[in-house]
Amino acid sequence: MLRLVNERDRTSSKAARAAADIAESQLPQADRDAEHMQGHWVLARLGKRVLRPGGEQLTRRMLAHAPLAGERVVEFAPGLGRTTRLILAAGPSGYVGVDRDEQVVDIIGPLAASVGGSCVRADAADTGLPDGSADVVVGEAMLTMQSERGKRAIIGEAHRILRPGGLYAVHEMGLAPDDLDDAVKDAIRRDLARAIRVNARPLTAAEWRDLLESEGFEVVWTGTEPMALLRMRRNLADEGVPGVLRIMRNVLTHPDLRARVMQMRRVFNTYGDALTGIAFVVRRRE
Ligand SMILES: C[S@@+](CC[C@H](N)C(=O)[O-])C[C@H]1O[C@@H](n2cnc3c(N)ncnc32)[C@H](O)[C@@H]1O
Repeated sequence: MLRLVNERDRTSSKAARAAADIAESQLPQADRDAEHMQGHWVLARLGKRVLRPGGEQLTRRMLAHAPLAGERVVEFAPGLGRTTRLILAAGPSGYVGVDRDEQVVDIIGPLAASVGGSCVRADAADTGLPDGSADVVVGEAMLTMQSERGKRAIIGEAHRILRPGGLYAVHEMGLAPDDLDDAVKDAIRRDLARAIRVNARPLTAAEWRDLLESEGFEVVWTGTEPMALLRMRRNLADEGVPGVLRIMRNVLTHPDLRARVMQMRRVFNTYGDALTGIAFVVRRRE
């Protein structure tokens, strides 16, 4: 058990070190001023590499229910590649990343190539991949930022490229509880959109489930973790001590980025437990 835990920690800190090596100029939206950058790229510019609401802990819990060894895996929106490294370390028989951002494709392409895979620049709603060509699709922190129609198009595309019985692992932002007042939901969406410069539309657990089921999936597993993207404990777990020191130094030396982070923090703190990280593993019905 101890050996397993140590092995896991070693893999995690190796992945953290490698991901930290990405140069600032390689990052998406590196040419934009802080005021106009999307929130996740603000965090990336500060040194964050895990850009999803439930952190790597929720990713690992999710992937434990979606075996990857020997499977053909497609990853939607790999971002800076932290989950990509976990997927590749699991020994899939194939890997294709799909991201609409060309800098992401440049970061993920060489990683994927190291196992004979690739990364394509495409909208996840229209990947160009053949029907039934994947056993597992993984997508994190990318559906929340789509409209209702956009979410359906991407989930529908995951369904199309999966073989019947294939698994789709989803990690997104959730709202809780299921009966959260509509006025609060609207306020959260409005304040989030202002703070992160992305039209974020998180859903309750019941709404995510309904959406996935209505697109031809059955839920195999679901889990949550607190939405703690900007909390110290989460950052120590996800980015390690050197990563946190780098982020703190950048926060102190970049007042424009700091202002954006403080704005995001205020929104996350205002809504507290109403925001969660939520993950699902769903199976494509026959
Ligand atoms: C918040 S980051 C998440 C990155 C990574 N999955 C993670 O969890 O750390 C969002 C990513 O989604 C990508 N993205 C957003 N919408 C997309 C779409 N419709 N098709 C493909 N990629 C998309 C962005 O380019 C970016 O890489």
